[in-house]
Amino acid sequence: MRKLKNILVTGGAGFIGCNFIHYLFGLSNSGTDLFEDAGFDGRVINVDCLTYAGNLESLKDVEEKFGVSSCGENARYFFEKVDICDRAQIERIFKQYDIDTVIHFAAESHVDRSILGPEAFMKTNVMGTFTLLDVARNYWGISLDNQRDDVLFHHISTDEVYGSLGETGYFLETTSYDPRSPYSSSKASSDHIVMAYYHTYGLPITLSNCTNNYGPFQFPEKLLPLMISNIKDGKNLPVYGKGDNIRDWIYVEDHNRGVWQIVKNSPAGEKWNLGGENEWQNIRLLNEVIDLASKELGKDAEEVRKTITYVKDRPGHDKRYAIDCTKAKTRLGWERKMTFEQGLLATIRWYLSHGEWIANIQSGAYKDWISKNYTEQGR
Ligand code: NAD
Ligand code: TYD
Repeated sequence: MRKLKNILVTGGAGFIGCNFIHYLFGLSNSGTDLFEDAGFDGRVINVDCLTYAGNLESLKDVEEKFGVSSCGENARYFFEKVDICDRAQIERIFKQYDIDTVIHFAAESHVDRSILGPEAFMKTNVMGTFTLLDVARNYWGISLDNQRDDVLFHHISTDEVYGSLGETGYFLETTSYDPRSPYSSSKASSDHIVMAYYHTYGLPITLSNCTNNYGPFQFPEKLLPLMISNIKDGKNLPVYGKGDNIRDWIYVEDHNRGVWQIVKNSPAGEKWNLGGENEWQNIRLLNEVIDLASKELGKDAEEVRKTITYVKDRPGHDKRYAIDCTKAKTRLGWERKMTFEQGLLATIRWYLSHGEWIANIQSGAYKDWISKNYTEQGR
């Protein structure tokens, strides 16, 4: 029986990780009542080194309700500004908090950045994952002769490890890996290392590969937050190539509920595909966003459409991603709750009503916010 008492969440200050922490503590950002309580009563230790993508401002409500600064000895949320490659610090954290579960989101995650500077991707995604696995194995005292079922290492991965699809077909859990970008190849490497720790040492692991997430708190260099804030600001809307690449979109809380179901119920050693079954060609999706956002902003959609700018394509731009998630639906009983219609509108409204959150990122002030509040908490 898994303990699920002291959960180390890596990358909890990033997009999906911070939504996951909100979800665990019963705080939904969807603006709907679709999301049931996770039923979690343990502690979360968020380990994040706060790269450009890490933003503690996204977690200030969690800190206020569950953190040390407000709850003292009864705190259930802890933040540790630590790099996952720093073995000594990771060892200290396992010991200090008696970690029994790892949910590993931390990564360098943006394909365009991986093309410009691949090294950080190899360090964090490959060596960082290796460091966490190795510390977990040692701390939990696991070997093939000493198996445990009360601890778990869950690794978050992406559909991009499977490569690029043509017009038809879907990625299955058994599809061979064929990554094309420095980002996806570093994630593929980490997936292999995770599986190697299961087969070689018997480390209880689970792994999930998900499609493109959308929702609140995504860094505004990614397609949807970028387009929504550019529409608001009257800036150009850059479309790579012909805009005919296809992505499958899932609402972030649906992804996170799937992760939690895996962590609670999946046998060790299993790999799960999670997806939205919701494919959109980029240009079609952008036109949809223009229609919805223009209406919210009282702008003329046809005028906004004129700001679409076709720009040079991303090198090695994967054509299509699409996932078959039958396994998670049938064997875990996982289901998505958010329709794309609802989710897209909720997301657009969230970004339009959180102008300060975006402005703080665009101006770099979120880093000042972090140092000010972090120091004030006396840490
Ligand atoms: P993100 O870039 O928004 O957040 C990553 C977080 O990790 C940041 O807070 C960053 O500070 C932290 N981090 C980076 N390097 C670190 C290091 N060396 N040590 C400690 N912390 C570090 O990413 P995201 O979109 O939230 O993605 C989270 C995970 O989900 C990643 O593993 C990614 O590959 C995977 N994923 C993302 C998507 C998506 O659509 N965004 C889809 C499928 C899978
Ligand atoms: P992105 O959000 O970067 O996610 P990923 O590359 O991981 O799928 O991009 C989603 C799609 O949108 C991808 O096909 C690239 C495209 N795109 C643009 O056309 N313009 C942009 O400015 C960005 C950021 C992405």
